Amino acid sequence: MISGHGGNVYDLARSHGCPVSEIVDMSSNINSLGPPPGLLDFLKSNMEILTRLPEVDARDSIRSFADLNDIDPRRILAGNGTTQFIYSIPEVLGSKQALILGPTYSDYRDACLRHGIKPILAAATDSDHFTPKLNDLSKSISTVDTVFICNPNNPTGSLLTRENLLSICGAHPQTIFIIDESYLSFVVGGEHHSMVNAELDNVIVLASISKMFTIPGLRIGFMIGSQDRINQFEQYRLPWNVNALAQAAVGYLDRHHRQVRTFIKNTQLYFQTQKEAFYKAIEPCEQLRPLPSTTPFILIKLKGEFLSDKVCAALAAEKILIRNCSNFDGLSNRFVRVSLKSPELNRLIAGKLMALTQSPQMESVLSAKRRIA
Ligand SMILES: Cc1ncc(COP(=O)(O)O)c(C=O)c1O
Repeated sequence: MISGHGGNVYDLARSHGCPVSEIVDMSSNINSLGPPPGLLDFLKSNMEILTRLPEVDARDSIRSFADLNDIDPRRILAGNGTTQFIYSIPEVLGSKQALILGPTYSDYRDACLRHGIKPILAAATDSDHFTPKLNDLSKSISTVDTVFICNPNNPTGSLLTRENLLSICGAHPQTIFIIDESYLSFVVGGEHHSMVNAELDNVIVLASISKMFTIPGLRIGFMIGSQDRINQFEQYRLPWNVNALAQAAVGYLDRHHRQVRTFIKNTQLYFQTQKEAFYKAIEPCEQLRPLPSTTPFILIKLKGEFLSDKVCAALAAEKILIRNCSNFDGLSNRFVRVSLKSPELNRLIAGKLMALTQSPQMESVLSAKRRIA
């Protein structure tokens, strides 16, 4: 059922018979700057908390997250990553018809299918840089009870403004809007587009902290909504759904909130610079058309003979993983997504992509790679 995820670093390592650490993973959207200073050391020196049950409803970490983000804690729920919420949303809301603004993260679709409803995909187009035209969607929105919006969007990196979101959510008070802001903290000025304090009862915000803080293995994420909505979801929460280390990590982040804010700012500026350098590096190559992105990941349209399966296979033979976007609804084998990492790796991937596209005989490049592998 869960079919839309991308390249699996564990599978690729297994196929090469090498440790996962040898794979260059430019597929996952995790912050390559690593966790905020001190976080891992704090966790390492507090391992004994695993010998106790964590707080059953993660209340302290909710308070910490509330404090860090200036939100009323009664409006927040903690989960085992935002993934836990995505998969419970259609069931808890009792969704009958859902609309997904795409092309986007496939878990919204998979969550709906799991709940027995086939969502409608409102796919923005390449010619619009994959930025949905919200006003044109009003009619479709009025036919559904649940709308999923990823903002900024994965994998396109496009961003909807808060003004536009307020307008569309305000115009459809009977429809519940799920706004996934998992990558918003990467966006320069992103806080101005957050819907966390939109004060609309029909808005639920998802906030993953896995990406920015490089802690996808800890499994903790947050949902923010009206108090009534949060109480509704609370009824479905399993006891101890957030492990003790994850809860402690959020407390640490709050106690170091100044450094954390600086860390976020530095991350934004770092990726801004890396993005500019990457666009510049691949600009001369006509077969690579990167789309504008507000995030550290960039969707690239491939032109000519150059298709995503072949590109990804050629790179995988060299232990490099990028995201083949052919299984995103609304995209095709003409798209790949690259998540920027260190300057060296970004230069490396730009060079490899350009070399592959400029190769007159892609097939011969591939077969040579296969022989090496
Ligand atoms: C858009 C989006 N939302 C949510 C998630 C899930 O993140 P987590 O469950 O770690 O909070 C992901 C993970 O890739 C994502 O890309």
